[in-house]
Amino acid sequence: MFTPRPIGFVSSPYTDKAAIPKGLGARHEAEDVLKILPEFEVGLTNIEGFSHLMVLWVFDRSGGFDLIGKPPADDRPHGVFATRSPRRPNPIGLTVVELLRREGESLHVLGVDMLDGTPILDIKPYLSSIPLEKLRRGWLAEAEARNE
Ligand SMILES: C[S@@+](CC[C@H](N)C(=O)[O-])C[C@H]1O[C@@H](n2cnc3c(N)ncnc32)[C@H](O)[C@@H]1O
Repeated sequence: MFTPRPIGFVSSPYTDKAAIPKGLGARHEAEDVLKILPEFEVGLTNIEGFSHLMVLWVFDRSGGFDLIGKPPADDRPHGVFATRSPRRPNPIGLTVVELLRREGESLHVLGVDMLDGTPILDIKPYLSSIPLEKLRRGWLAEAEARNE
C-alpha cells in the first residue's frame, strides 16, 4: 500500500454538506476550481484538450462506514459498493467534471459535488468506450422509473 497525499484542493462554495444537491435528478452546475499544488502543475501539461476529467478525492469530513445504507435517491437499502455513499471503508470519492479552462494551476470545472477544501488525490482524463446500450443502471434505474 502507499500513503496518499493531496495533489491539490477543491475550491467550491459548499461549506455545508446540506447545500450540495443530491438524490434523483441532482445537478451540479456551478463553476468551481480545482487548485493543483505548484509542485504538480507540470503534470497538467496537455490536459486542456479533454472535455471531461475524473477526479479522485478524499471524503475528509466523513467518518466510519456502513456496508448497507439507504441512499437519498431511494427508500430501499443497498450495499455500499452499489452506491456512491461517503460512508465507505476507504473514503475515496470519484467525480466526473467538465473542464471549462485551465489557468496555470487552476482547473475551472463544472460538476463539483465536493465541499470547499476537499483534498484531491488524482485527476485522469475521462474516456469511456462503453456503448450506451451496454450500460445498466441497476437499482437507480428502478428508482428513477418509480419517480417518473
Ligand atoms: C453522494 S457523494 C458522491 C461523491 C462522488 N461523486 C462519488 O461518487 O464518489 C457526494 C456527497 O458527499 C458529501 N461530501 C462532499 N465533500 C465531502 C467531504 N470532503 N467530506 C465528506 N463528505 C463530503 C456531500 O454530502 C455530497 O453531497
